[in-house]
Amino acid sequence: MPIAYIQDIAKHEGQDVTIRGWLHNRRSSGKIHFLVVRDGTGFIQAVMSKASVGDETFQKADHLGQESAIIVRGQARADARAPGGYEIEVGDLQVVSEARDYPISPKEHGVEYLLDRRHLWIRSQRQHAILRVRHEVVNAVRDFFNREGFVLADAPIFTPSACEGTTTLFPVQYFEDDTAYLTQSGQLYNEATALALGRVYCFGPTFRAEKSKTRRHLTEFWMVEPEMAYATLDDVMRLAEKLVVSVVARVLEARQPELRALERDLSRLELVQAPFPRITYDDAIERLRAAGQPVEWGGDFGGTDETVLSGLFDRPVMVHRFPAAVKAFYMKPDPERPEVALGVDLLAPEGYGEIVGGGERLADYDLLLERVKAHDLPPSTFEWYLDLRRWGSVPHGGFGMGIERVVAWLCGLEHVRETIPFPRMLYRLAP
Ligand code: 4AD
Ligand code: MG
Repeated sequence: MPIAYIQDIAKHEGQDVTIRGWLHNRRSSGKIHFLVVRDGTGFIQAVMSKASVGDETFQKADHLGQESAIIVRGQARADARAPGGYEIEVGDLQVVSEARDYPISPKEHGVEYLLDRRHLWIRSQRQHAILRVRHEVVNAVRDFFNREGFVLADAPIFTPSACEGTTTLFPVQYFEDDTAYLTQSGQLYNEATALALGRVYCFGPTFRAEKSKTRRHLTEFWMVEPEMAYATLDDVMRLAEKLVVSVVARVLEARQPELRALERDLSRLELVQAPFPRITYDDAIERLRAAGQPVEWGGDFGGTDETVLSGLFDRPVMVHRFPAAVKAFYMKPDPERPEVALGVDLLAPEGYGEIVGGGERLADYDLLLERVKAHDLPPSTFEWYLDLRRWGSVPHGGFGMGIERVVAWLCGLEHVRETIPFPRMLYRLAP
């Protein structure tokens, strides 16, 4: 009898199959057990009637608790009423390990309770769907860059210096003479590898000691960061747009069942087509004021500003040319208007806010040295970075896209904490 995975059950219609999994839910009526079985690839209802399996097997399921490990054998058959369109008519049941008093029942639990039991919570139908969307997003991203001819060149996690401001650094004491920090972004190293390899990307975990407790912030998150030599802000915006369109299309194509399980409004995702509107920071300020947000020119957008702004468009919007003073030291000032920087944020629609941040880098040696000093960064640890401007400096740029924020948006989630198997936040290190 072939071992079948629930996700492939349609291929086995009419066949006797073996499914190895766990009992997700059970309903019984005297002569029939309805067992919802999950096997990691999906969920399916297995119908077991006393008449066809006999008393002894039937009784095995009488008191079987949620999350008992079980192997069911039976015929796969199409049934339009069944969720997923198929069910199993059980011929035999084997109990591999019996579970009792599983702490997460189908009823509602508080989020802290669930986060404390994240190692079990990930077995639920909703988390199952989210983590599979995440898997698709990660692979869509990799496939995109590989197809476009970018070279994967990973950046180190232990770094000697800040990239995104000194207030969110995680120090690590280990290296002689120096404090190391967990990386906030691979960008500075990407600039080196881009000058070596042309177009590169790195993809890995990044760390921010975020003191803010918001629905968009994790202290450990995954970021993909492309970087291109001989590129301008416009090239960076085009690439971000193309990436986002490609990832959304791929998830819509490959993960419809998961998105439906999450009750995601697919029509909103189908609108994600190029071109995305591109507006300046100045324009964004005006629109925010018109929408009643009290914003001053010169500040960075807060979470609410991003929510309001992204709610004004039916597709992602790119905001460029932010005040240089609120942006990172490496951003190139606009030559026509040096008080603004050639940076861009891409905001996801439906109030999700920033998912991509990037821009054109400062390629001029003297200006960069000035900015390093103005930001109180130690010039000695940036010597290697300044070398990139000493030898063969060219216009270049790139961006970072946070995977968890993209997953939260695509799944329609309220908070990024559900988008990663084990979230790390200000008040959350366990399990
Ligand atoms: O805008 P950020 O800080 O940009 C950079 O780090 C650049 N050095 C990237 C580059 O140009 N190579 O971060 C980029 C993206 C954000 O748009 C957001 O999606 C995500 O990373 N991000 C976070 N995601 C979850 N939790 C946090 N604390 C995040 N901080 C940034
Ligand atoms: Mg940003």
